[in-house]
Amino acid sequence: MTVHFIGAGPGAPDLLTLRGRDLIAACPVCLYAGSLVSREILSHCPQDARIINTAPMDLDTIIAECVAAHAAGQDVARLHSGDLSVWSAMGEQMRRLREADIPVSVTPGVPSFAAAAAALGTELTLPGLAQSVILTRTRGRASTMPDGETLANFASTGATLAIHLSIQNLTTVVDDLTPFYGADCPVAVVWRASCPDQRIVRGTLGTVQTAVDDNITRTALIIVGQVLGDASFDESCLYAPDYDRRYRPQSAESEWYQGVPDET
Ligand SMILES: C[S@@+](CC[C@H](N)C(=O)[O-])C[C@H]1O[C@@H](n2cnc3c(N)ncnc32)[C@H](O)[C@@H]1O
Repeated sequence: MTVHFIGAGPGAPDLLTLRGRDLIAACPVCLYAGSLVSREILSHCPQDARIINTAPMDLDTIIAECVAAHAAGQDVARLHSGDLSVWSAMGEQMRRLREADIPVSVTPGVPSFAAAAAALGTELTLPGLAQSVILTRTRGRASTMPDGETLANFASTGATLAIHLSIQNLTTVVDDLTPFYGADCPVAVVWRASCPDQRIVRGTLGTVQTAVDDNITRTALIIVGQVLGDASFDESCLYAPDYDRRYRPQSAESEWYQGVPDET
């Protein structure tokens, strides 16, 4: 018996890995984070599966369900939105399950920042503009931030920022970032990326607050950085005609040159 943690993706039911789908189909018990996981994904569960929305449950009750499934020898599919490596609460569940000697597995999912970038049709690392993406959040009602993890510290790098769980703090985001990025720095807010009702609001640090209306709440990402701006970035060396690399050695002197293929 295993509790399979599965990243259920950003919303669109077909943004689920084949491994995740097959595990869901094989598990007689499914616990899903009902506030964000698409209900259509539950259609992969076996017909007689025990399907439980964990949104109203506490940690003890969730673990008790897993312990009961373990006692009955039943595998559990544990679904969280996006990917499990960020803001999934997988860590605390895993710790309890390991303490109870219950085996676990992890299947990654499509994270919301990737779905938002896809919706924007933008690469978040463009040569000469940004080569790092910082996935972060601001302080929430139930969560504080470690001392060094301030927007100002991250902004001092000039990297692209993907700010989660923060649409309610948009004023703070704008105030903290403007001294570093400037009021004309491009910003995009992507609400419910990949869902049929997805919305995109584009602006700048100077305009985004007036552009975002009251209907954009909770499931929104704030992306900030010059990569969202005009097309004035460098081309990478990767496809430059004169760039010497393993799959396209430029001469017999190249460190990548493998010699003439043996014809025998
Ligand atoms: C609890 S976190 C879950 C993050 C998730 N594990 C991931 O990989 O993206 C919820 C936050 O992720 C972001 N989010 C999740 N799904 C989203 C979507 N479809 N569109 C935009 N933002 C989303 C929002 O910032 C939301 O407040």
